[in-house]
Amino acid sequence: MFSLIKKISVIPFVGSSLFFQLLITPIVHAAQLNPPTSSPAIYSQMAIHHPVWAKNAMVATQEAIATKIGLDILKQGGNAIDAAVAVGYALAVTLPRAGNLGGGGFMLVYLADKKQIVAIDYREKAPAAAFRDMYLNKQGEVIANRSTFHGLAIGVPGTVMGLEHARKNYGTLSRKQLMAPAIELAKQGIVVTADLANSLSAMQERLKKWPSTRQIFYKKDGSHYQAGDTLKQTDLAKTLTLISQQGESAFYQGEVATAIASSIQQADGMLTQQDLKDYNVVERQAIQGNYRGYQVFSMPPPSSGGIHIVQILNMLENYDLAAMGHNSAQHIHTLAETMRRAYADRSLHLGDSDFVKVPVQALISKAYAKQLITNINPDKATPSSEIKPTTDLPYESDQTTHFSIVDKWGNAISNTYTLNYSYGSGIVAKGTGILLNNEMDDFSAKPGHPNGYGLIGGEANAIESGKRPLSSMSPTIVLKDKELFLVTGTPGGSRIITTTLQVISNVIDYNMNIAEATSAPRIHHQWLPDVIRIEAGLSADTTRLLQVKGHQLQLKSTMGSTQSIMSTERGLYGASDPRTPSSSSLGD
Ligand code: DON
Repeated sequence: MFSLIKKISVIPFVGSSLFFQLLITPIVHAAQLNPPTSSPAIYSQMAIHHPVWAKNAMVATQEAIATKIGLDILKQGGNAIDAAVAVGYALAVTLPRAGNLGGGGFMLVYLADKKQIVAIDYREKAPAAAFRDMYLNKQGEVIANRSTFHGLAIGVPGTVMGLEHARKNYGTLSRKQLMAPAIELAKQGIVVTADLANSLSAMQERLKKWPSTRQIFYKKDGSHYQAGDTLKQTDLAKTLTLISQQGESAFYQGEVATAIASSIQQADGMLTQQDLKDYNVVERQAIQGNYRGYQVFSMPPPSSGGIHIVQILNMLENYDLAAMGHNSAQHIHTLAETMRRAYADRSLHLGDSDFVKVPVQALISKAYAKQLITNINPDKATPSSEIKPTTDLPYESDQTTHFSIVDKWGNAISNTYTLNYSYGSGIVAKGTGILLNNEMDDFSAKPGHPNGYGLIGGEANAIESGKRPLSSMSPTIVLKDKELFLVTGTPGGSRIITTTLQVISNVIDYNMNIAEATSAPRIHHQWLPDVIRIEAGLSADTTRLLQVKGHQLQLKSTMGSTQSIMSTERGLYGASDPRTPSSSSLGD
C-alpha cells in the first residue's frame, strides 16, 4: 500500500504569477493511488456499505459479522451497552488486527433516561517497572522497535475490565449471553475475508517471527490464510470461555495472567502478573464543547481527542465555513491552520491527567480559541516553525477500530479500542490466543522524538510507572437540546481527531447527511510535519490554490474508518465508512 503513496510536489513560490503556477503543477490521478484491496466476490456477501435507515436501533462497526451480532443482541432485548459488549468481544475474533482482549480503549455512553454522558477509560497502563528513558540507549538515542515490536512495547491491557465495567454498571444481559457469539466464532472458525487475508499477508514478516502468533494466523507450511478459508482460534475460544464463566478475574489473575506475563517476559518485557492484578478502569468526566448550538461530548485525558476536537471547533466557530464552500481551498486552509495550532498545544500540554496537570479548561475555552486565531492569515499558510505551543495559557480554572450503537430507548455507545498498530506488538500470549498491544509507543520515548504516527510529545507524556500513554482516540457523541444527534468516531492514529472533527463539521456546517459527511474527502494537519495530508478527490484547482497560499500537500492513502449514526426526524441514519472493505451498518 505504502509504495503507492505519491507526493504532490511543491511548487516554490518564486514571484511567479498564480496563473503560471496553476499551469505547471502536476496532476495526480486518484485512480493510480487506491487500487481495490478486496475481491468483490467475497465482499458481495459481507459488506453493506450503503447507508442504512432504521426506526428503532442501529449498529455500525468495521466488520459485518460483529455488526450482525450487535443487532441480534438488541433484538433479544439488550440495550446499547449489552450490544457494545457483545461487539467488543466479537471483534476480537473477527477483526484480530484491531478488535482485542489484549489492548485497551475508551467508551462513551449516553444514558437516555438520565440524559447523562459517561466516559469509561480502559486505556492500557505502563507496567510498574516502566521508567522515563526505557527506550533509550547509553547515548540517549531512541532504540528502534523497542516501543513497537518487543516485549517492552506492551502496556497492561484494559479491554476485558472495560467491557465488564460497562456491562455490570449499565448493561442488562448476562456475560454468558453477550460472550456466546464470540466464543462460537472462535471455536467454529470464521470465514477469512479478503480484507483479513490481505492484512495477514502484509503483516507476515512481523507476525511470523513469534511462534505463538504464527501457529494461529498462518498455516503449517507458513503460508497465510486465503479468502474463503476457515480460521479457527481454539485458544482464544478457551480464554473467552473462562472469562465468560469467571468474569474479568479469569483474565487479570490465574492461568491467563500467568501466560500473558510469562510470554511478555520471554519477549524481554517487564510486565508482571502483579501489573495485571493492579489494573483499574476509570470513569471520567467527558470533555464538553458547544459548537453552533450543538453539544459535543468526547474523551478526556488520557485521550487528547476530546480537548482538541473542541479546541478546533471553537476556532472554526469564528469562520463562516458554509460560505467558503466545502473542501474549497479557503475551507481547507482554515481547517489546516486551526489543526496546526491545536496539535502544537497537544505536543506540550497533553498527557495522563492522573499524573500531570492538563490545562483542560484553558485549552477548550472560547476566549483562547479567539486568541489562537488572531495570527491566522486567510491568504497564507503559517509555517509550523512559527507556531509554538502556548506556554502561558490565558487561564486555568491501518489499526484501531470504532463502533457506534443506538438502542430503541435512545441509549448510545461510542467506542474506540485498539492494539495500537495492526495486530499490536504481534505477540500472542502463548496458549491464550490473545494478541498483545504495543501501546507503549504512544508515550513520548524522548521529548521531540516522533512516535509511530509522527506525533511529538513532551514531558507531560513522558513514561512513568502506572501511567497511561496519551491517545488520540475520540469516541464522540453530539447532542442537540440534550437529545441524541450524532454518534461517531474512527481509527487512524494521529488522524483520529481531525477525521472525527470533519464528520461533525460536515454535518453541522454543510448540512450533509451522515453518508455524505462520511464519504467526503478528508484532510489532516498535525503541526509537524508541516504538510496537509489529503485524500484523493480534491479538485486540482483547490490543491493548486492551497499551494499558492504556501501549503505543502501530500496525497496519501485514505484516512480513518468512521462508524456513525445520526438521529434525524425520519429515524436513525447509519453510515459505515466505505474506505474499509468489511464495515457495515445494520438497523432494526
Ligand atoms: O491511542 C491512539 O491514539 C493510537 N494508539 C491509535 C492507533 C490507531 O488508531 C491505529 N489505527 N489506525
